[in-house]
Amino acid sequence: MPIMRAAFVSRFDDANPLAALTVGEQPEPTHPADDWVTVQVRATSLNHHDLWSLRGVGLRAEQLPMILGCDAVGVDPDGNEVVVYPVIPTPGDPRGVSILSEHFPGTLAERVAVPRSNLLALPAGLAAADAACLPTAWLTAWRMLTTVGRVDDADAVLVQGAGGGVATAAVALAAAMGKRVYATSRDAAKRERIAELGATAVEPGARLPERVDVVIETVGAATFDHSMKSAAPMARIVVSGATAGHEPKVNLRRVFAMQLEILGTSMGTPDELAALLAFCAERGVRPVVDSVLPFSEVADAFARLHSGDVFGKVVVDHTA
Ligand SMILES: NC(=O)c1ccc[n+]([C@@H]2O[C@H](COP(=O)([O-])OP(=O)(O)OC[C@H]3O[C@@H](n4cnc5c(N)ncnc54)[C@H](OP(=O)(O)O)[C@@H]3O)[C@@H](O)[C@H]2O)c1
Repeated sequence: MPIMRAAFVSRFDDANPLAALTVGEQPEPTHPADDWVTVQVRATSLNHHDLWSLRGVGLRAEQLPMILGCDAVGVDPDGNEVVVYPVIPTPGDPRGVSILSEHFPGTLAERVAVPRSNLLALPAGLAAADAACLPTAWLTAWRMLTTVGRVDDADAVLVQGAGGGVATAAVALAAAMGKRVYATSRDAAKRERIAELGATAVEPGARLPERVDVVIETVGAATFDHSMKSAAPMARIVVSGATAGHEPKVNLRRVFAMQLEILGTSMGTPDELAALLAFCAERGVRPVVDSVLPFSEVADAFARLHSGDVFGKVVVDHTA
């Protein structure tokens, strides 16, 4: 059976997810249907999702080994540079879809197979390493702000947990859209860096100078009360993650008295990814990249993400 190098989850380890990562050989991807194509991967970026997979969240033991990775930029069979949209129709899944590395092998490999309709052209002027940050974390932030958060009607936005991939994306995008942006971080150095992206940086829980119309919430239990208290009447609190716990206490009196909307969202549509790519290419907005490591150091890339000491996206260069 033809093989390729890949980073995959071979067993689950909730306490030490890095121990569940294997870098080695895996079979070449196969095509479940005629409309699938194989993409030669040039760059990927890591997501918290990959750490959840190593912990056993969202995967079953009988699915192992599973190649990790949601994001990819690569070259299609016709030689075109493409960005891979990572959401795949999956009839057996209750959501009707899955993200690469959940049911179908992921992008942290030499090659990945996807339906041809999941390929978007890499816009001119956008580097592969930058575009590889966009299909998961940045797409999620884009949809949180636009379609779900209705940021066009907002003056001010609060982003919780400023160091994360989704959070840095939300700050950079909201600032580029001309909004007043507040961002929280526990870490003084991260607060300094998020301020450079155009946000007013504050400590978690700090009272803001104004109430905001949109809150970007990926931290969860640790920040949710602050998100509620910072929300203006009719504000949208948009949730796409719960890194610090998924069962916050919610003051329902505040929800109805302030007429708040608490909205969940995941990833985005292909049209939203196309709009995000165009926005970045045309407006000169570039992802915040924490570091770029060659595929030979992919285990170090995971360790970096796991340390929590990242600012922006950890990119893996498959051509180095
Ligand atoms: N639904 C989707 O489509 C989707 C897509 C992408 C990501 N996600 C989810 O969104 C979440 C964020 O992912 P990410 O990769 O952007 O970033 P991440 O690595 O999970 O980090 C997010 C931020 O959370 C803050 N944080 C972590 N633990 C905390 C605690 N105990 N108290 C306060 N703050 C804490 C940190 O902020 P500071 O250190 O700055 O304080 C950190 O920078 C994850 O849960 C991920 O699974 C969902």
